[in-house]
Amino acid sequence: MQIAMIGAGYVGLTTATCFAEMGHEVACHDVDGERIRQLEAGELPIYEPRLEEAMRRAVASGKLRFSRSGADCVGGADIVFLAVGTPATPDGRIDLSQVEAAARLVSRWLKPGAVVAIKSTVVAGTCRRVREIMAEERQSLDFSVAANPEFLREGSAMEDFLCPDRIVIGCDDRRSASLLSEVYRPLTERGAPKVLSSTPNAELIKYAANAFLALKIGFINEVADLCAQTGADVGPVAEGIGLDRRIGPSFLRPGPGYGGSCFPKDTCIFAATGHGRGARQFLIETLIERNEKRKVALARRVIAQGELREGSVVAVLGLAFKANTDDVREAAALTMVPILQKAGLRVRAHDPKARANARQWLRDVEWTDTPYEAAHGADAVVILTEWEEYKNIDLGRLACTMSQRVVFDYRNLLDPRAVAAHGLTYFSLGRPPVSPVGKSTRGRVSALAGSRRRVAAPARD
Ligand code: NAD
Ligand code: UDX
Repeated sequence: MQIAMIGAGYVGLTTATCFAEMGHEVACHDVDGERIRQLEAGELPIYEPRLEEAMRRAVASGKLRFSRSGADCVGGADIVFLAVGTPATPDGRIDLSQVEAAARLVSRWLKPGAVVAIKSTVVAGTCRRVREIMAEERQSLDFSVAANPEFLREGSAMEDFLCPDRIVIGCDDRRSASLLSEVYRPLTERGAPKVLSSTPNAELIKYAANAFLALKIGFINEVADLCAQTGADVGPVAEGIGLDRRIGPSFLRPGPGYGGSCFPKDTCIFAATGHGRGARQFLIETLIERNEKRKVALARRVIAQGELREGSVVAVLGLAFKANTDDVREAAALTMVPILQKAGLRVRAHDPKARANARQWLRDVEWTDTPYEAAHGADAVVILTEWEEYKNIDLGRLACTMSQRVVFDYRNLLDPRAVAAHGLTYFSLGRPPVSPVGKSTRGRVSALAGSRRRVAAPARD
C-alpha cells in the first residue's frame, strides 16, 4: 500500500519506518525543511533505540523516503497519516492548529478515494472537524477521515508499535475500515488485537488510556509517601498490588512525577474537555495538581533533607523525562533545577542523551560528560531519570568523589544496603531506612516521606 506520513517527529518517524518494515511504500513529509534535510542525509533528529538502523534499512530497501514537498508525498497515497503535534494551549485546551494546517495541505493533493487517518492524539470530534476543513478546501473531493491513535512510548517505540497491546481504528465508513485493516494486517495476523469502532470512540480511548495510566503513577507516588511514614516498602507493596490481574504490574513505579510530551498535556486536555462538556474529570484535575506539586516538593526536600546552603553543589543525574530518550518535555528536571538554583545552589548536570535538548531550557548549569564529573565535590546527588548507567553506578567512586555524600534517588534505582555500605546518606521514595553498618544512624523519616540515613564514611583512598 502507498502511505504518506505527515509529521516526522517521534510518532511519525517510528510509524513510517515500521510501516516500511511491514512492506508498505512510505513517503514522509515535515513542515520543518531542516528536519527533512537531516533525514535525507540518513541522520535521525531524535534519539530512539533501534530506530536509526531500521530507518536506514527501510530507505536502502526503497520502501521509505523523505520529501520536502506535500504534493510529492501525498499525491500517490492510498492513505495519509497525520502525525503532527497536538499541544495544550496555556489554559489546557487542545491546540489543533498543526492538525488543521496538515488537513489543508493534504486536501490540496489527496487523490480521490483516499483515506486520511489521524494518528495524533485528538479530542472527540476532530475527525469531523478535519472532514469539514477538507471539504471546504476541495469541494468535489471524495475521501474518508479516520482516527487511528498511537500508543507507543518513547524509548521503546519500535517494539511498542510492532507488538501493540491493541490497534485502535475509528471509522465512520467501510472504506476507511477496510483500508486501515489492510495496513495493519501484518500485525493483526501475528495476533495483535484490533478494536474497530467509531471515530469519537477511538479519539476518546486514547485520552482515557493516558489519563488512567497517569492515575496509576499518581496513585503509587502517594502510596510511596505513605510507605515512608509507616515503615513499609513501596517495592513489595507495588508488587503485591500489581499481581492482582485486575490491576496489573505496570506503571506502578514511584518517581518524581510523570512528565513527557504526552501525559502532562493529555491529562490537561482531557480535564479541560470534561470541564467544557459538563462532565468534569475530578480525579484527573486533582492528579494534575498533585503531579506538579510533587516535583516542587521533591526539589524542596533536596534542600531541606540535604541540609544544603547557598553555594552548595548539587549534581543532577538525568534530564530526560524517562530513560532511553533525549526528550526533556515536561521532565522533572525542568521544574526542579530552577528551584534548586533559586535557593542559591550550584547545579551540575549529566544525561547520556538529553543534554542538548535540556540546554535549551536550563540556564547557568555546569554540564558534564560523566555522572562522576557531576558528582565531583558535590554536596548532593539527585537521580531523576532511570538510565541503566545510573542503576549500575560505581558507588565507591561516587562516595570518594563527593563532598557531603548525600544521594537522593528519586527513581529507587539503587540498592539501599549497597549505598549504605559506601557511607552515603541515602534518600529514596517510600523505602524504610537501612541500619548503618556498625554505627548508630541519624536516620529519620521525613515529614514529606523520604527516608534518610547517614553511615560511617569509608576511608578515602
Ligand atoms: P513531535 O513534536 O515530535 O513531531 C511532530 C512533527 O510534526 C514535527 O516534526 C513538526 O515539524 C511536524 N509538523 C507540524 N505541523 C506540520 C504540518 N502542518 N505539516 C507537516 N509537518 C508538520 O510530536 P510527536 O511526539 O511525534 O507527537 C505527535 C502526535 O502523536 C501528538 O498528537 C502526540 O500527542 C501523539 N503521540 C505521541 C507519542 C510520543 O511518545 N511522543 C505517543 C503517542 C502519541
Ligand atoms: C506515554 C504513554 O505510555 C504512551 O502510550 C503514549 O502513547 C505516549 O505517552 P511516554 O510518554 O513515551 O508514553 O512514556 P511512559 O513510559 O508512559 O512514561 C511517561 C511518564 O511517566 C515518564 O515521566 C515516566 O518516568 C513516568 N512513569 C512511568 C513513572 O513515573 N512510573 C511508572 O511506573 C511509569
